[in-house]
Amino acid sequence: MIIFKTSKISALTMLSVIVLFSCAPKEPEKVQSITIDNNEYDPAVWGQVYPVNYQSWQSTQDPKPSGLSKYRRGWDDDRVVYDRLSEFPFAALLYHGWGFGIEYNEPRGHHYAVIDQIEIDQSRTSPGGVCLACKTPFHKEYTETRGMDYLSAPFLKAVEMLPEKHRELGAACIDCHLAQTMELRTHKDHFEKGMSMIGKTEFSHQETRTIACAQCHMTYYVPRDENRKVAGDVRPPWTHSQWGAITIENIIEDLLTDYQREEWVQKVTGFPMPYIRHPEFELFSNQSVHWMADVSCADCHMPYTRSGAVKYSDHNVTSPLKNKMRACIQCHTESADWLQDQVFTIQDRTTSLLIRAGYATAITAKLFEKLHQLPNTGNQSDEELYAIAKDYYKRAFLRVVFISAENSAGFHNPTEATRVLGDAIAFAQKSESLLRQILTSRGIEVPVFVDLELDQYLNLRGDKKLMFMEDQEFSDPFDIQSFFTLKTSKQGM
Ligand code: HEC
Ligand code: HEC
Ligand code: HEC
Ligand code: HEC
Repeated sequence: MIIFKTSKISALTMLSVIVLFSCAPKEPEKVQSITIDNNEYDPAVWGQVYPVNYQSWQSTQDPKPSGLSKYRRGWDDDRVVYDRLSEFPFAALLYHGWGFGIEYNEPRGHHYAVIDQIEIDQSRTSPGGVCLACKTPFHKEYTETRGMDYLSAPFLKAVEMLPEKHRELGAACIDCHLAQTMELRTHKDHFEKGMSMIGKTEFSHQETRTIACAQCHMTYYVPRDENRKVAGDVRPPWTHSQWGAITIENIIEDLLTDYQREEWVQKVTGFPMPYIRHPEFELFSNQSVHWMADVSCADCHMPYTRSGAVKYSDHNVTSPLKNKMRACIQCHTESADWLQDQVFTIQDRTTSLLIRAGYATAITAKLFEKLHQLPNTGNQSDEELYAIAKDYYKRAFLRVVFISAENSAGFHNPTEATRVLGDAIAFAQKSESLLRQILTSRGIEVPVFVDLELDQYLNLRGDKKLMFMEDQEFSDPFDIQSFFTLKTSKQGM
């Protein structure tokens, strides 16, 4: 099936070294005798030396072909910006209470990193300048030189602090390369702190091709003070984790430690909650098949490409599906169609379980809402059950967020994604049954099918009055969810 077994992968790595030398920017470019300063932020300056890479980097602003990806549509040539809350209606209920529950779009190219944050409902950037952590290349410098003035400034004010010419610049050459040698590097303090937390100090060449991406595509929290105000730069919840084993269990233990990690209040339950953002690195590196085979993020998202005589790494970083599976075919002998089917097979299964886990958690949230509306009786045994129900509920919720916020719909690590979702369902259902027990003991009858009242969370969101878009919803690919929720979620159940 696979051409490159482990030994052949290293052959591929060697090949990439050859590629690097053969397309190495050095020969023609150095003729222009421009030396790029290691502190050069302006990609156009780098572009004078490396024009082909620069052009492909600029292409992240172009819409991608539509119809190729199933679960990661977004800014394709249909020009629709897809709404994740319409795709997964349960998420509108779970995230109700802060920005993610108002406007939450599918990602698009790196060019739009800062632009999208300026355009989105500003409740999403309420923490302030700290939100620029994985967006602007200036984040490290500004955090070091201006500290809290920058980190806690209202978001648009923080953007205005940046040098005018580069205010809207997203992931730039300086984030991934040292100018003098063009070696790969990282440029984010939170990532470097994370690496020292897990005791990782040296990286193979393949590993650098992953960490250049992981520095932004990892999870972190915005630390808060007692009043839930921003208390510093973003931090990774990686206590007790290791390289290759940053597990959801460890992440949850970390996030449930104290109020510094409680970033928002979930409206339906009233619980202060932590959150998990884009954990691509964590899911992928937790012993996925490709990670174990020493495959890197860049192998799949930056395939080698030819432009005339020059061979280079495609800097138009996007979904491999929207790139016609070119990356996969570098290693796999199967056809692009076969490989695409494999991706969909994995994603359909993950999505079906995600829907199950998401609704199970949403139903539990509604039972907490019901219970919180009753007067507190001070019943001791109720309180014990309640404490367990609350703890299990949070563990379910964070697992649902982990897989929802991870952007591959399970592909990066199918077996792990399935395991995490299975556990989410178990925690949510145990919590639900405890809540039913408490409610029944209080004389409240809970119907078999709980009304989620989704309309109230899905419609008229934020200043833009965003509405549920029925045609964007992902229905369960195996139609199992209809056993558990009365009507389809579309009708607001
Ligand atoms: C400086 C931070 C940063 C770095 C470094 C970075 N990314 Fe991103 N990436 C982002 C942000 C932010 C977005 C979302 C942009 C948006 O939606 O506006 C994104 C979006 C993406 C997308 C979606 C693109 C699309 O067309 O929808 C892919 C794929 C991706 N990144 C992969 C990678 C890979 C692979 C690497 C390493 C080679 C990498 N990223 C490095 C911040 C980064
Ligand atoms: C073996 C190949 C492979 C590797 C390795 C890989 N990815 Fe992916 N990635 C994919 C596929 C396939 C998808 C699903 C794309 C889709 O559904 O359109 C994806 C999706 C994504 C997306 C969402 C794309 C979008 O258009 O919204 C991001 C972001 C991303 N990967 C980042 C990363 C990062 C960061 C790493 C390393 C930590 C990584 N990937 C490693 C194959 C890979
Ligand atoms: C998100 C990270 C990222 C950004 C941003 C980025 N690069 Fe790269 N670049 C890579 C990776 C990964 C490689 C592969 C390097 C390797 O395997 O050693 C690479 C390789 C290169 C190479 C070596 C030749 C090749 O194509 O493999 C050049 C030259 C280069 N990049 C120039 C640039 C320039 C110029 C910019 C800005 C316009 C830029 N890069 C932005 C990640 C990035
Ligand atoms: C750098 C080489 C490389 C790239 C690029 C690559 N793969 Fe793989 N892939 C492997 C290796 C090695 C294995 C493990 C196979 C083995 O050892 O039998 C594997 C395994 C797989 C499997 C089987 C997984 C399992 O759970 O058993 C699938 C499916 C797959 N790859 C699909 C893809 C797709 C789709 C892409 C592109 C998005 C891709 N691969 C990109 C090398 C690669």
